[in-house]
Parts: sequence; structure tokens; C-alpha cells
Amino acid sequence: MKTVSTFNGARELADGRVGLVPTMGYLHEGHLSLIETARSENDTVVVSVFVNPMQFGQQKDLETYPRDAGRDSALASDAGADIMFTPSVEHMYPFQHRTVVSVGTVAEGMEGAHRPGHFDGVATVVAKLFAGLQPDVAYFGRKDAQQLAVVRALVADLAFPVSVRGISTVREADGLALSSRNVKIDETNRATALSLSTSLMLVADAFEAGERKSRVLRDIVRQSLALSQQLAVDHVEVARSADARTVDAIDAEAFVAVAGTVGGVRLIDNVTLDPSTGTADRGTRLTRPSILYGGS
Ligand code: PAJ
Repeated sequence: MKTVSTFNGARELADGRVGLVPTMGYLHEGHLSLIETARSENDTVVVSVFVNPMQFGQQKDLETYPRDAGRDSALASDAGADIMFTPSVEHMYPFQHRTVVSVGTVAEGMEGAHRPGHFDGVATVVAKLFAGLQPDVAYFGRKDAQQLAVVRALVADLAFPVSVRGISTVREADGLALSSRNVKIDETNRATALSLSTSLMLVADAFEAGERKSRVLRDIVRQSLALSQQLAVDHVEVARSADARTVDAIDAEAFVAVAGTVGGVRLIDNVTLDPSTGTADRGTRLTRPSILYGGS
């Protein structure tokens, strides 16, 4: 694997069909699953690692975001990456925030409402990665379902010749969706954190048994979460995968999203529901502790 810091350098090394996995580093098995899928579908796999200042609301969150270039490069290389793209802030934003990509309503509800400006930062950096690296395919996690919708919107609206692939959520063995924040959840709060995924598995069961009404699916989540008094629920929504618009009934692929805070840690999770097959994507589960906890 080669590491490069400029768009030109990355393009010169890329050959054939190029798959791009955009990340902010501190890789875990969720990221590795994107890289492995990209490896199986492309000639060249590019992993970008860039902690994007534009998508952080609080300076403190940006400064404390975990970074470990050596760890990332070993993990990405093992998972099959050919190129690691690590641009500087100056290379990505030579004129600071002159051109901003904003996708309108797709970015407004749910996470967009909680983090104003966040998705402008995501859409702008992803548009730049697409323009500068010219991938054929780009890989994003369903874990961030609204972000995936934002990326699909910008590709359609700006006519990027990139196909976007949404990849199933990787979960810890107990069901908690993998996130670097999980290391901040102590043992007493773990059971509360698990209520998110547990409630979504009940939604998946109901959907696969034929339920299509959003109100009923939301109620299943709310009732299940009500059992966890330590959880401050932020939102429970049912939205179309294509544009993150909330829907009353599921007649096209949709996701049920939940967000909440436990012990000061904000967590999000969702399940994707596909009415064309009648199945839910519950994600996959690790069979051993995540590398986030220091294993290998
Ligand atoms: P980051 O949080 O590093 O995530 C990089 C990619 O990994 C995203 O597509 C995200 O959805 C995916 N991912 C994270 N956790 C996952 C899990 N448990 N299972 C499957 N996929 C998972 O998301 C970002 O970075 C940034 O916003 C970015 C798109 C790179 C733009 O800066």
C-alpha cells in the first residue's frame, strides 16, 4: 500500500476500476468491511483518511477526534487497500470554505437538525474527494443512513459519474453498532446503550412479519426504549433511504433511525427495510471483541 497526500499523486497511482472508501480514520471493523467489499469489486482501492474540520460543530470535538496514522495504515493495508490518501487541511481547503455543497431537505431532519451545518461539511468534502480522486464506485456505511442519502443526493444533483454502495452495519457481538464512541460507554451504561439495537431488531421482526405503517414501527421503538430510563431519546424516525424524507408507510426502501444519549455519549443506529423483498438489513455481528478495545 502507498500513502499519498495529493489528489494528483493518488490519481497517478490508480489503475482500472477505482473504489473509494472515505473515512476519518481510527479504523474499526465497520470501516474494514467497506474496504474489504471495495477490494472484492475493484482493481484499485483508495482509502481516504481526513478528519474534516468543516463537518465539526464544536472545535473541541475536532481537536479530540482520535487519530493514529500508523494504526490506520496497517489496518487498511491488511484489509486490501492499495492507496491511502491523507491530504492536509490546506490541500483540501486551499480557499477555506469558498464553495460549499448543500443538499437541501435531505440534510435537514434527524442528524442535520441536531448538528446544524454538519451535512454541508460532509457533502462538500465528499464532492471534493469524488472530483479529485475520480473513483468509479464509492462505499459508505448504512450505519449513517442519512449521510448515505446526502451522498446519493449530491451524486444525482451534480452528475458525478460515481456509483454509491451502501454497506451493512457492523455490530459488536452484543448488537451495539460499532462506533469509535463505544469505548466511552462504561459497563453500567452498556445495557442502556444496547436498548437502541434491541428496539431496532423488534422493528425488523415486525417489518418482516408484514408491518408497513411508520407510526406502528416508531411506537415499537419508543415502547422498547421506554424501559431504559438512563437513555435520553433524541429522535425516532422512519425515512426513505433515497432522500431521508420521513414517510407514513414503507413503500420504497426506508430506514428506521434512532438517536439518543447515554452517559454523555450520543449514539445513533438504524435498520434498513426493503419492501421489495420484505426483509430488514439488521447488519452483521462480530464474533469477538472489536479491535477498538485493543485486540487484533
Ligand atoms: P467515519 O465516521 O470515519 O466513517 C467512514 C465510513 O464508515 C462511513 O461511510 C460510515 O458510515 C462507515 N461506518 C462507520 N461505522 C460503521 C459500522 N459500524 N458499520 C458499517 N459502516 C460503518 O462518516 C465519515 O467518516 C465522514 O462523515 C466521511 C464520510 C468520511 C466524510 O468526512
